[in-house]
Amino acid sequence: MKLFDVYPINPINIVKGQGSLVFDDKGTEYLDLYGGHAVISIGHTNPHYVKRLEDQLHQIGFYSNSIEIPLQKQLAEKLGHVSGKEDYQLFLCNSGAEANENALKLASFYNGKKKVIAFTKAFHGRTSLAVAATDNPKIVAPVNETGNVVFLPWNDEAALEQAFKDHEVSSVIIEGIQGVGGIQVAPVNFLQKIRSLCDEHNAVFIADSVQCGYGRTGKFFSHDFAGVNADIYSMAKGMGNGFPVGGIIISPKIAPSYGMLGTTFGGNHLACAAGLAVLEVIEKDNLMQNAAEIGDYLITELKKFDQVKEVRGRGLMIGIDLPEELANVKKDLLFKHHIFTGEAKPNVIRLLPALNLTKAHADRFLEAFTQTLNNA
Ligand SMILES: Cc1ncc(COP(=O)(O)O)c(C=O)c1O
Repeated sequence: MKLFDVYPINPINIVKGQGSLVFDDKGTEYLDLYGGHAVISIGHTNPHYVKRLEDQLHQIGFYSNSIEIPLQKQLAEKLGHVSGKEDYQLFLCNSGAEANENALKLASFYNGKKKVIAFTKAFHGRTSLAVAATDNPKIVAPVNETGNVVFLPWNDEAALEQAFKDHEVSSVIIEGIQGVGGIQVAPVNFLQKIRSLCDEHNAVFIADSVQCGYGRTGKFFSHDFAGVNADIYSMAKGMGNGFPVGGIIISPKIAPSYGMLGTTFGGNHLACAAGLAVLEVIEKDNLMQNAAEIGDYLITELKKFDQVKEVRGRGLMIGIDLPEELANVKKDLLFKHHIFTGEAKPNVIRLLPALNLTKAHADRFLEAFTQTLNNA
């Protein structure tokens, strides 16, 4: 049987990882500033993480949500503590799309309304409603098309106000920093405006934190920079450091009822052990502070390059916007300097490393970036 060929892949076989380094089958070392797409939050094969998962695997890996799973309560408590959203409620699932799907559905259950407001260049996942709220017609199948999603321009308060006049809005979904959209930081005023309009119209503010959350920006949720709370935060990627875990945290104003949401795998013992290990390391090693510090350093240094059009982002979610003639930089970094980075169209390099990236590794990247630009 062949694989269903949907990914353009690099001819590299990574067989080992340690911290921010990964190694291929020939023993070549790579610096990982991509984190497997913002997933590796505490570094590859972090010893505490490995031990916690190994210990759990020897106890029990999975049982269904029909029994008590104390690890879920421990994860909820820890997440409340580390994120500062102590009075929120946690629902666990398996991926970012599923988290957003549940968030959008829950909002509609809550207020009985149908319209979802999403924004230009948004990416919220590939399941039915999540993809309908994603601004990329190429990945929306005819069956996913719905008249229930209204796309608005990014950071346009007047358009937002008008949309609330024109529609019975159930929810507004927004990434704190658009990832796929090219590292666009949601302005603080815009997030505050969403909060006040949602309050005024009993709509639900959904903060898609799948990529920009979990401490990556130096705050637990990047939406926190606006100083207002969302009603639902969706999470995945960094939550399990590679173990597939997703979830939403839900404001106390939204009450649960039996059967409202559900999943077979979500919240299983192994996923919770992974989630707990990640939060324990984030807390113990002050990783949010490190993300803020190393991120500030990288952003400051990157802004010094004349050839760079713009540097955007917060903490360790950084976009380097390059002119078209430098379209090869990402490839050169990978194949000549052995540094993994991400990309966003048309020509943005995305840095999404582990939150414990060291200054030495940041400098190694800056050095390689300098050489690449000099030789371009
Ligand atoms: C902001 C955002 N939301 C949702 C998703 C979907 O997550 P997943 O691929 O885990 O379904 C992604 C994935 O890239 C994302 O960046």
